[in-house]
Amino acid sequence: MVLEWHESNVAGVRVTHWQKESAPSIVNAISSKPVRVVETLNGPAIHVYAYGKHELAVRTYREPAKSIDVFNTLKKSVEEKAALTEVPFAKIRDKNNDVSVVTLWKKGTRTLHEYLDDLNVGLDAKKITCKRVVRLVAKLHAAGYSHGHVHARNILLYKNNQPVLCDPRLLIQRDQSLKFWPWESRKKDFTWSMGVGGEKFDLFEYCGKWVTYHLNRLAFTSIDRREAIVNGKSFERELEQHYHDHYDKLVNSRN
Ligand SMILES: Nc1ncnc2c1ncn2[C@@H]1O[C@H](COP(=O)(O)OP(=O)(O)O)[C@@H](O)[C@H]1O
Ligand SMILES: [Mg+2]
Repeated sequence: MVLEWHESNVAGVRVTHWQKESAPSIVNAISSKPVRVVETLNGPAIHVYAYGKHELAVRTYREPAKSIDVFNTLKKSVEEKAALTEVPFAKIRDKNNDVSVVTLWKKGTRTLHEYLDDLNVGLDAKKITCKRVVRLVAKLHAAGYSHGHVHARNILLYKNNQPVLCDPRLLIQRDQSLKFWPWESRKKDFTWSMGVGGEKFDLFEYCGKWVTYHLNRLAFTSIDRREAIVNGKSFERELEQHYHDHYDKLVNSRN
């Protein structure tokens, strides 16, 4: 995707936006009543507005500098085709100097957590999707970005199970001069993912446990249960290996 950016002034509101979209129509959309307000745990509430057949997600961070930072990093990551993260749509500075980051609300998606919890989806399909997810994260890392909190509620899946990352508040471009040990650099992003009953796991562990969670619960005998656990553990290792293989392949092809 090649995005051309444009600066416009709409009655004192400054808009940085995709060239093919008109600034007044963006300002007009986000001046209407939101179709929904999504409360978040850590960031500002997301106001969602109708925009033709699309929806816009608007976040206004308390510090204008933070909004500018998030927008610029998202914009750069998309321009560099680093990975499928939330698509930046516009940056808006209003008359009070508040700055909002406008991205596209991904319609028709559900979180990785909801997907893995779905009893109607089989084990093999879940494993394939988890592999897609770690390849996406490896791609982001190999491009020099760190998402900051890759966990199951920040990964959205379309109906065809194509993953995208949302929640860009901690997205950074890593300082290449810092020269992390490769291992540290790769591990850095895998913060905790919610588990069962408040337990916390990193992404690999989480996927390993969650793909077999229902098998484990529905197992009739302790032997079946043990088998589900072993299966989950071996998938966890396979997934971690898959991440590293993909990361190495991408890094080598860049050098
Ligand atoms: N662009 C988006 N498109 C669709 N859903 C989104 C988008 N951004 C966030 N969400 C949904 O809203 C939830 C909360 O947003 P998020 O930015 O992760 O805030 P927090 O982690 O602080 O609660 C996400 O887990 C996801 O389900
Ligand atoms: Mg989140």
